[in-house]
Amino acid sequence: MTKPVLRLGVNIDHAATLRQARGTLYPDLVEVARLCERAGAKGITIHLREDRRHIQDADVYNLRKQLSVPMNLEMANAPEIVRIALNVCPTEVCLVPEKRRELTTEGGLDVIGHFTALRKTCDALTRAGIGVSLFVDPDLRQLEAAARMGAPYVELHTGAFCDATRPAFARRELARLIEGARAAHALGLRVNAGHGINLATLPSILRLPYLDTLNIGHSIICRAVSVGVERATREMLAGMRAYQGGEP
Ligand code: PXP
Repeated sequence: MTKPVLRLGVNIDHAATLRQARGTLYPDLVEVARLCERAGAKGITIHLREDRRHIQDADVYNLRKQLSVPMNLEMANAPEIVRIALNVCPTEVCLVPEKRRELTTEGGLDVIGHFTALRKTCDALTRAGIGVSLFVDPDLRQLEAAARMGAPYVELHTGAFCDATRPAFARRELARLIEGARAAHALGLRVNAGHGINLATLPSILRLPYLDTLNIGHSIICRAVSVGVERATREMLAGMRAYQGGEP
């Protein structure tokens, strides 16, 4: 039996981070998304944070119109953002916890602790035809709660493993992820994974069974800077060749 192909969803938040750092119109997120699509990405992920530090509301509406691959909108369970999601109707929504001062999403959702509020949102999104995913740590009780909620997907938080600096801790976290993927599948959930994945951590992540999609952002955008800077410099130098020198 052939194994299903593992899909890549590229998270382009940090292309928006670069744009927001200077308030420019570039990089153009539609262009970035199209290049990801052309390279084989099967989805584009964006996180509309309540603090709007990278993705802006207009990006969400614009990308929804322009993308030809599924859009996965990451978001907190906040009424204002839920309204936008219901308006835009992305292909999928991944519900994540959000704290104002965090550098990036820290930890998975407490599905058990916020069950009622999350279920209300999950039901509203589902009624709108949006596929809901819950971003969770590989914790059996949280996975069971996600399955009870009826969300079709979970996204396993791979950050603890990917960011681990101590080998023993990394081994333990990878084992939890493998067990978590197995448990989620047994509970009837489809399994995505993401956070902190780069080319160094990828081989270990590929040991997780039943994976559907990996959502990867920061490392791809960072790598794009490295592999693209030579070309960007050449383009600028080519532009400078028009210089005539001397007095006009
Ligand atoms: N998945 C979720 C739910 C996230 O919150 C993030 C970060 O926005 C990612 C995946 C991508 O993580 P990274 O940028 O570290 O690849």
